[in-house]
Parts: sequence; C-alpha cells; structure tokens
Amino acid sequence: MAGDPFHMFDTTAVHAGRDDLAALGVHALPIDLSSTNPLPDIECGGASYESMATGGHPEPGGGAVYARLWNPTVARFESALAELEHADEAVAFSSGMAALTATILAAKADRGGNHVVAVRPLYGGTDHLLASGLLGVDTTYCGPAEVATVIRPDTCLVVMETPANPTLELVDIAAVVDSAGEVPVVVDNTFATPVLQNPLLLGATLVLHSATKYLGGHGDVVGGVVATNAHWASALRRVRAVTGGLLHPLAAYLLHRGLTTLPIRVRAQQTTAQKLAAWCESHPGVRDVYYPGAGDSDPAGLIGRQMRGPGAMIALRLAGGYQHAERVTNRVRLFTHAVSLGGVDSLIQHPAALTHRPVPLEARPDGGIVRLSVGLEDVDDLHADLSQALDSFPGPG
Ligand SMILES: Cc1ncc(COP(=O)(O)O)c(C=O)c1O
Repeated sequence: MAGDPFHMFDTTAVHAGRDDLAALGVHALPIDLSSTNPLPDIECGGASYESMATGGHPEPGGGAVYARLWNPTVARFESALAELEHADEAVAFSSGMAALTATILAAKADRGGNHVVAVRPLYGGTDHLLASGLLGVDTTYCGPAEVATVIRPDTCLVVMETPANPTLELVDIAAVVDSAGEVPVVVDNTFATPVLQNPLLLGATLVLHSATKYLGGHGDVVGGVVATNAHWASALRRVRAVTGGLLHPLAAYLLHRGLTTLPIRVRAQQTTAQKLAAWCESHPGVRDVYYPGAGDSDPAGLIGRQMRGPGAMIALRLAGGYQHAERVTNRVRLFTHAVSLGGVDSLIQHPAALTHRPVPLEARPDGGIVRLSVGLEDVDDLHADLSQALDSFPGPG
C-alpha cells in the first residue's frame, strides 16, 4: 500500500498501515500491549535504544526495546494517517494537546527561538496553552493578514486552524504559509479531516489532529497525531520519547479502525449538516449561521480550492443571546449537550462557557453562540429536535 500511487482516498483509508498483516498471518490489526521487549543482545538493543531516543526508528535486529520508544500497533496507525495526509511520517500522542505541546517543544529545539505566532480564532485549549507560559514561549496572537508583520527572527512556529473552532472561519493556508516565509506552519486539521483538506499539499510543514474527534469517530478514544516530513517526525519522536506523551496501543487500534470508515462518515455527516445549516438560515430564532460557504463566509473561494466540502460542524448565533443558548442546550433531546465533536452522534455545546472559557474576553466567542457537531442520525430527526429546542424561546426566536 505504501507508495502505491494508484489507490484512491477511500481505498487508502481501508488498507493503509496494514502492509505487514499477511506475513503475520492475521487479518485484523494486532494489538501489542508489551511495555517492554526482550533484547537480542546488549549491542543491538543499545543501538536500537539510541536510535529511538534521538527520534529514529528501531534498528534492524535491535527490537522496540521499550513502549515509550516504539510500539508496532501505534506505528501502523501512524503510517496509515501519514498516507491519508500525504506525509512522509506521522507521530501519535496521548491527546491533541500532547501533540501540540510536542510540536511547540520540537519547534523551539529545532529553530532555536521562543516566539510563536498564533492565528486566531483557535480552539480554546490551544489558545490557553500558548498563553499559559508553561512551555516558555512568547506568543503573538494575530489575524491571518498580520502574520507577515508579526514574524520575528526568533519565531519558531506559526499555529493556525481551519475551519477554526468554534465559528468555522476559513483561513487561507497557502497565504499564511507564504506570509510565514521560512517559519514552519502547523495546521490543526481536526475539523476538516484529511477527507476534506490536506494542508501539507498547500505548503504547511505539519498537520495536527485531535484524533479524539473524527479520526476515532465514536467518542470512545482520546488521542492526537501530527503528520509531517521525516525531519520533523524525528524531532517529534524525540520529544515523545523524552517527555512520554505517547498514545496507548488500544487507542491506536481504535483510531486505526476508525480511519476505515472516516470518508463515509464525514461525507454522510456533511450532507446532513448542509441541510440543517440551510434550514437554520431561515429560522427567526437564528441570527447568524456559521458554516463554511454559507452567506459571505468564503470570499476567497476556499471551498473547492482548499477544502473539498464544508464539513459537518455548524455554529449558530441565537437571536435571544445567552439565555436562548442556555434554553436550547437544556431542551435538546436527540443532540447530546456535551463538548467534543466528530462522533457518530450529534452534540451541542456552548463555546464561551466551555471549550473557549480560557480565552480572554476580547477573543472569546459571543455568549449567544452554540456549536453543533452533526452526526449520522436521520436528518429529519435532527431537524425536529433542533426545531423544538429553538422554538422553545419566548423572545425574538
Ligand atoms: C480543533 C481542536 N484542536 C485540538 C483539540 C485538543 O484535542 P484533545 O482534546 O484530543 O487534547 C481540540 C479539542 O477539542 C480541538 O477541537
């Protein structure tokens, strides 16, 4: 499968990362739970350890040595995700935030600077981590148009997200890469998934996923992954080996299995989201619909050029503001009132109070906004649920 140019995306999603299964005599992905591995001899084991602790792969004949350094179940998931993102390699972590932490630490070490440019809006946790000072970075927040003016000689990384959490702003990846010049750009591709967008093909150096979301797709696993070139993959593995934010093999198994249905899930969820977004446009209780391509949300024509479709996340600014949002989140019956996204079941949450709570007030989403993650339920049922919840507000809605 690897390097085979003839497979279409959906075929790759089903078969990638499974090259060694036939030789092992198995059909399903094997789960290796070993925390340590028998060593062939001191020399070979030591050479393998040395290679992996500095970001490399196991040495032939040296084995995996220790699970913080290497695990074959995790490595299979990584190679599958790398193929889907058109990357040389991928490196998996215990969460999306662990993946971002490792990316920042790797960028600091590789570039020798402490300055990060963060293109807002971003997921609240990302915004918070960069502002926290915990990683010793000095962060400048800006809009996409200001990236070139805020880059400094000590800038080690540009962090961006598109569509951005929670209000689905589309950011032009190629334009940000151009403005960043020599500075590597990491794109959080959690909302789009590789089904709809491949940032590396647009010049980004690294693409990051909260694998907890669409990649897993069933709300039962937490993980993160970064796909990139061989140089950055090595830098990330070194950080992972030293700091230990590794993905558990059971989680890797679930994520790898999740990839097989990723394309059909994302496309089906997107079809339903398109219908719901269109219906919300004309609902008197909805002041604004934030959905890629809706209204004048895509002046640069990024749907089609950058993104193969609008996806399955919608945000709504409700006519009755915070109270209306509170009432809707309390009234839904089929949508679950919960954070997270990208699973087979539909969720609704209030970003200002939850996912974006740590963001400073001036950059926090409006209190009247709710965010929907559209699942695989029948569109008529979702429509009926949203309708009864929206209509429950006595005010302008
Ligand atoms: C866009 C985005 N990036 C990163 C993260 C962080 O991922 P995790 O929760 O897996 O650490 C999230 C979580 O909601 C997210 O929505």
